Amino acid sequence: MPLKPLRAAVIGLGFIGPQHVDAIRRLPLALPVALCDSSAEQVRAACERYGVPRGETSWRELLHDPSIDVIHNCTPNALHDEINREALLCGKHVYSEKPLSTSAAAARELWALAQERKLAAGVNHQYRMNAAVQEMRARLQHSMAGRPLMVTGCYLQESASRETDWSHRMENTGPSRTVADIGVHWVDTACAVVGEPIREVFADLQIHFPTRIGADGVAHPVTTEDTAFILVRFQSGLPGQFTVSKSANGHKNDLRLNVWCEGYGMEWRQEQPDRLILGKKETGYEILYMNPRACQEEVKPYVTTPMGHVMGWPDALRNSVSAFYSAILDGSYLTDSMPCATFRDGFQGMAFIEACVRSSRKRRWVEVEQL
Ligand SMILES: NC(=O)c1ccc[n+]([C@@H]2O[C@H](COP(=O)([O-])OP(=O)(O)OC[C@H]3O[C@@H](n4cnc5c(N)ncnc54)[C@H](O)[C@@H]3O)[C@@H](O)[C@H]2O)c1
Repeated sequence: MPLKPLRAAVIGLGFIGPQHVDAIRRLPLALPVALCDSSAEQVRAACERYGVPRGETSWRELLHDPSIDVIHNCTPNALHDEINREALLCGKHVYSEKPLSTSAAAARELWALAQERKLAAGVNHQYRMNAAVQEMRARLQHSMAGRPLMVTGCYLQESASRETDWSHRMENTGPSRTVADIGVHWVDTACAVVGEPIREVFADLQIHFPTRIGADGVAHPVTTEDTAFILVRFQSGLPGQFTVSKSANGHKNDLRLNVWCEGYGMEWRQEQPDRLILGKKETGYEILYMNPRACQEEVKPYVTTPMGHVMGWPDALRNSVSAFYSAILDGSYLTDSMPCATFRDGFQGMAFIEACVRSSRKRRWVEVEQL
């Protein structure tokens, strides 16, 4: 019997919500049937643009509608917990934006609730779903690069590089801003690649401008970090280090992950997402464009265009949403084996953020809470 498409509703139609709508529309077995935002104008424009029949300004209406199967939560961070919890209680599968929650404790509860209700619960950490990132992971799993010695990298952006860079997004972020916003993406990508969680951290969180001046000339106090320097130790003892900053001029969305192995090093750069750089002692750098002949068997589904026809940011998001919907349709989400990030990973991200804040305050190594 042919499968019925899953019916999706997307809540929050600012920057990322429409990207989810695009990703859903690229899947064969999913239909965006309703869109929601607190701004009626955003709703009207998005419904018209994407040809979605139903628009709402109240998310509760959608959660209580039995004809909707999946909720995409693309609202600001402070609303994630409330909407995700209620969606699960209403029996919906949930694909949430990151950071999953406002605390590790709340994220733990949400993961438990999804398990108890037997619902799929995904988090949009899409970077791990790039073909080149999956290739790194596969090469480690097949012991092709030799023993991993260390993991390094960065996630650099520039939106907070000047004293006059101030926006409402800097307010109400909880105890962390830059680690919570982009550091968690690096952590998810690194943990997915090496296949283990981070056990402990030593973080130095820096505020470059304790007061910022808004466009209206008003001074705003800033209490959360612009930049963080973070040492990590994974579960097995594998050491690592990365820098995360919103004050790195020239860097638009520069996530880099290096896994240095005894045989060769591997580097992935988000701004050149379709390739993997191999660092070889004997011959120097080799650039591997993702293509079915060069990648491992399990990575082939992630390669969707010929070499040089650059697969990138929207494709990774599509891959992540696609893996989520496939796992619902074939029931594999019940075995906790989805390749996309789950609420379990969302919890690990929250535990990581809290550990960084604790470490920076205490100026020492601290353990990251585990599930
Ligand atoms: N995975 C990624 O790469 C990525 C990238 C950007 C943002 N994000 C995450 O996505 C979330 C949203 O970020 P954004 O950049 O799209 O923010 P945004 O401010 O551009 O959009 C948020 C939208 O939510 C709407 N909204 C606010 N309150 C609402 C409510 N009560 N009901 C319905 N809609 C409401 C706002 O009107 C706005 O349109 C954040 O959690 C952020 O961390 C993830």
